[in-house]
Amino acid sequence: MAEPQAIYLSDYRPPAYRIDKTELTFDLDPQATRVRARLHVTRHPESKAQAALTLHGHGLTTERIAIDGQALLESEYRIEADQLIIDRVPETFVLETEVIIDPTSNTALEGLYVSGPMFCTQCEPEGFRRITWYPDRPDVMAVFTTTVIGDRQRQPVLLSNGNPIERGELPDGRHFVTWEDPHPKPAYLFALVAGSLECVRDSFTTMSGREVALEIWVEAQNLEKTDWAMASLKRAMTWDEEAYGREYDLDLFMIVAVDDFNMGAMENKGLNIFNSAAVLANPQTTTDATFQRIEGIVAHEYFHNWSGNRVTCRDWFQLALKEGFTVFRDQSFSSSINSAPVKRIEDVALMRTLQFAEDAGPTAHPVRPDHFIEISNFYTLTIYEKGAEIVRMLSHLLGEETFRRGSDLYFERFDGQAVRVEDFVETMAEVSGEDLTQFMRWYAQAGTPQLTARSDYDAEKRRFTLTIAQQTPPTPGQEDKQPLHVPVRMGLMAADGQPVELIINGESHGTDTVLHLREAEQQWVFENVDEGAVPSLLRGFSAPVRLEYPWSRDELSHLMRFDEDGFNRWDATQRLALIAIEEMMAAHQRNELMALDARLIEAFSYLLREPTDDRAVLAEMLRLPSEAWIAEQQRRVDIDAIHGARRAAIEQLADNLFPEFESVYHANQQSEAYAPTPEQMASRSLKNVALSYLVANGEVEALNMARAQYEADDNMTDVRAALTLLAHSDRADLGDPAIRAFGERWAHDSLVMDQWFATQVTRPQADALERVRFLMDHPAFSIKNPNRVRALIGAFTQQNRVNFHRLDGEGYRLLADVVIELNRLNPEIAARMIVPLTRYHRLDEKRQALMRGELERIRAENLSRNVFEVVEKALA
Ligand code: ARG
Ligand code: ZN
Repeated sequence: MAEPQAIYLSDYRPPAYRIDKTELTFDLDPQATRVRARLHVTRHPESKAQAALTLHGHGLTTERIAIDGQALLESEYRIEADQLIIDRVPETFVLETEVIIDPTSNTALEGLYVSGPMFCTQCEPEGFRRITWYPDRPDVMAVFTTTVIGDRQRQPVLLSNGNPIERGELPDGRHFVTWEDPHPKPAYLFALVAGSLECVRDSFTTMSGREVALEIWVEAQNLEKTDWAMASLKRAMTWDEEAYGREYDLDLFMIVAVDDFNMGAMENKGLNIFNSAAVLANPQTTTDATFQRIEGIVAHEYFHNWSGNRVTCRDWFQLALKEGFTVFRDQSFSSSINSAPVKRIEDVALMRTLQFAEDAGPTAHPVRPDHFIEISNFYTLTIYEKGAEIVRMLSHLLGEETFRRGSDLYFERFDGQAVRVEDFVETMAEVSGEDLTQFMRWYAQAGTPQLTARSDYDAEKRRFTLTIAQQTPPTPGQEDKQPLHVPVRMGLMAADGQPVELIINGESHGTDTVLHLREAEQQWVFENVDEGAVPSLLRGFSAPVRLEYPWSRDELSHLMRFDEDGFNRWDATQRLALIAIEEMMAAHQRNELMALDARLIEAFSYLLREPTDDRAVLAEMLRLPSEAWIAEQQRRVDIDAIHGARRAAIEQLADNLFPEFESVYHANQQSEAYAPTPEQMASRSLKNVALSYLVANGEVEALNMARAQYEADDNMTDVRAALTLLAHSDRADLGDPAIRAFGERWAHDSLVMDQWFATQVTRPQADALERVRFLMDHPAFSIKNPNRVRALIGAFTQQNRVNFHRLDGEGYRLLADVVIELNRLNPEIAARMIVPLTRYHRLDEKRQALMRGELERIRAENLSRNVFEVVEKALA
């Protein structure tokens, strides 16, 4: 078998033919669905008169190919390497094809597949070619008419994009519905759902006074979990009108919940399909974090209607055009509803741990890649999250109003078109008059820029000089990097805790300003500054970079107390904790006692005692840096030292501050009924952080508090927090009964069982891996369901570092076994699950060898393009 080949952006050619109208008929059958397509094709005037027509197809049994009603002879077409090539075609014609596909054996979950009692589709990026012969590329946009024929009993509900225009009965207990979507769209936005589904209805009146019907379709037992998504959808529709002037453009908007789904959700025109985990919620089954996640994803998919659907991508190299912009939009939406600083803290934590790790690993790629083997591998944190950070920098560079003028012009100018990243950035340059040429490098260069800052104080002249240097490390295929345009938001905090007025070249910039770093190194002189000022740098994480500055611990404590920027107060606390933990790691490595720095205890004591109005931020400040973030700072990663030191730090904080944590725990109890409001979530978050310290202290009293909270059974946020503490404690007499009771109580609810799986396999105790193997045989587990795989295997390999990295290599072996099985069943999920195995470069030699060994074992298999691409990069 030939090795999979890469595709290059520089090879892009416009399509030779356009499709004005696509008519589809699906005759549904679980094993043999018949798909008839009538494509109204016209040659683009710019393309050659004799250009061949090329269509994509994968796994299709072709029954008929005809042009203008005339069946083609075998000599008139070729099928090679997933392409149908017809050399001679008229200028304008109707191409008819008829194919048979098998939705039941489709375990890749791309194209048309069966999930529980329903048929559903996932076409982005290249799933449509598994449904019918088609130019499956985003720059071919057509108006779709879709007729779905199904069994009246088994598929009473038949859905597709747009509006239903006709329905009727057919012989043999069959019926049909015909849907028409008036908006031209690429094939990746096509959707079909059929099955026995129930729906909740609501409506929304748009800003121009049009009434839109809203429907959420679910299996009957999930009807009680749809309120939150509906409320979130309406909030998102209002927000997009207010913040971006964007109105919905069809009379009907549908959401469907599906149990087997590779990703979170999909923005198909008028028919969004959601992973049930990303849409179903109620207080008994869903934690606060998931309520917020669902709100964000519902909004994200809805926002795609403009940033993605009305204006789409020319080719898949431009994926971040729609994803980065849409993530930025959903982040802004969420922070308008919930605690804005906490939203920022969470997004930045994700960037700095997982995206930075991706950017530093073997699969590092630019936000706009210039080549790929398998595009499904590029739905990454870099495309989504770093892509969103770039848009955020643009919005700050331009200012909110100008950015809005830019987005208005972008939507107006490119409506109905498939465009490139340049079109977006050039529109922003045009409305602002800014030169964004250097800024474009953010899309082209992979790797996380490293900023190194230092300062110098001249007491005589009362001048504070700040110097910042930048450097982006080499990444695979990109040795030399150019300086980027980095906006550094900053301020100076005086010794008395007051903000300093920033005067540069005699001009005042208030107490908060943005420095524009464009060179490899630059200097700024602040005048009229008193001794002892502390710089607060990169406020709000104003650019996706690493920043080093030699803050002393006293300076960090100072920022933690006084910084005007809530985000930087959190960041200062994290840095202070990191220094303390690294000190303890060093002691661990020397086999010495690990004593926690008294300044961290003092800092926490201050946080716990001083009244603060933002309890949500306080809860975040009380969480120590994650093991993943600590590991990100190390040149050589010592898994056990990180775990041991972090654990010891928590225990010592708990020992020293037990009464303080206890009073925070009690002060944040709630009497009202559960609601996912920001105020209540802040209390629960703070209360449960406090409880985790109390339990870490090891007193029986604390474990009993956790047990009481578990038994009170008020809402899943509190139950899950308590269950985790019990199950992760050394007290099997408390943990085991709770786990057993929870598993029995929720056996009927797979989304809750996912939480049960994840809770057990993230135990720090040495038996976690054996639990994974044991639970893989549990009746609620299935390797074919991506949510189950993520809950059991994903949680273990990504969140249980000490046990995944066991020195006997069993963690690696387990993951490799799973990847080998998934490679055959679901290559997209296989290529995602393998990632922890590819991050061996900074580990010790023993572990490196074990991990490479497992990668080699995987490489010896007959690999999908997805897994092949990742393994090749990892072993390069
Ligand atoms: N466009 C979807 C979203 O971000 C994701 C679809 C990804 N599909 C995939 N097969 N990787 O909302
Ligand atoms: Zn998206």
